[in-house]
Order: sequence, then structure tokens, then C-alpha cells
Amino acid sequence: MALRNIVKEGDPTLRKISRSVLNFDEKLWTLLDDMAETMYNADGCGLAAPQVGILRRVCIIDVGEGLLELVNPVVEAEEGVQEETEGCLSCPGEYGTTRRPMKVTVRAQDRNGNAFTVEGEGLKARALCHEIDHLNGILYKDKVIGPRGKVN
Ligand code: NI
Repeated sequence: MALRNIVKEGDPTLRKISRSVLNFDEKLWTLLDDMAETMYNADGCGLAAPQVGILRRVCIIDVGEGLLELVNPVVEAEEGVQEETEGCLSCPGEYGTTRRPMKVTVRAQDRNGNAFTVEGEGLKARALCHEIDHLNGILYKDKVIGPRGKVN
């Protein structure tokens, strides 16, 4: 495993649409392993492949339930609304309030290409939506509706 550089806001990579993963091979597994190491090293709860410069539909989250790897994720259903504070490893030291669904159902594939469905509520729903947005070139900042600011 290896740490990868996290691309910061302003880099055009973050604004591009990522391509679907077709090959569930060692290259994908290395990417997933490196992303996990990079996310934990940065103390984040989610990371998407474009954030390490790879325009593929791959993201990971860990909201305290263990690592979840999502390949080609799609939001299938959403329910309710939440307005909470959000940040992003590509926008260090900043935060803002966004409106997200309270619950989502996401369909994805695992690292071997097996399809699965995951449900998320609260923080997990936010993390899933935030990371899937990255695959479409969207940053949480595009969706800030409330207080925003900087942390030291
Ligand atoms: Ni982010």
C-alpha cells in the first residue's frame, strides 16, 4: 500500500466526470488499498478516486462501521432531508452546511465486481452522497446553503 497525494480544490480533475470501472483487477485493488491508507492517514471519513487524480467511479467511506468500498455506485433511492455541516479532504480547513437526504439506498459493486446494495442514514447518507458527487465533478461547496467557515 502507498499514500497518494490528495488533489486540492482548484485542480480541474475534481470537476471531471469519472468513468465506470470495467476491469476488477489488481490495478483496482491497489487503488482501493491506497485510497484507504490515504483516507485514514488524513483522518477522513470518505474519499473518491478523483481526489487522488484517478477519474474512475470508485469511492470509499468509513463512518465508524468499518471500511466500505464502492465501485460504480448509484443512488437508487433517497428519503427525508438533513442539513448538517460537511467538509472535504480536498478543501482542507473549511466547512459548510449542506442539505442532503436523511436516508439513501446505494447500489454498487465490490472489488470483485459483485453487486450489492447498502443503506445509509444520517452521517452515512451524507458521506455516500458526498463521495458519489465527487464522481460527477461536484464538490460539497456547490451545495452549501447555510453557515460556512474555516477551522484553524
Ligand atoms: Ni470530498
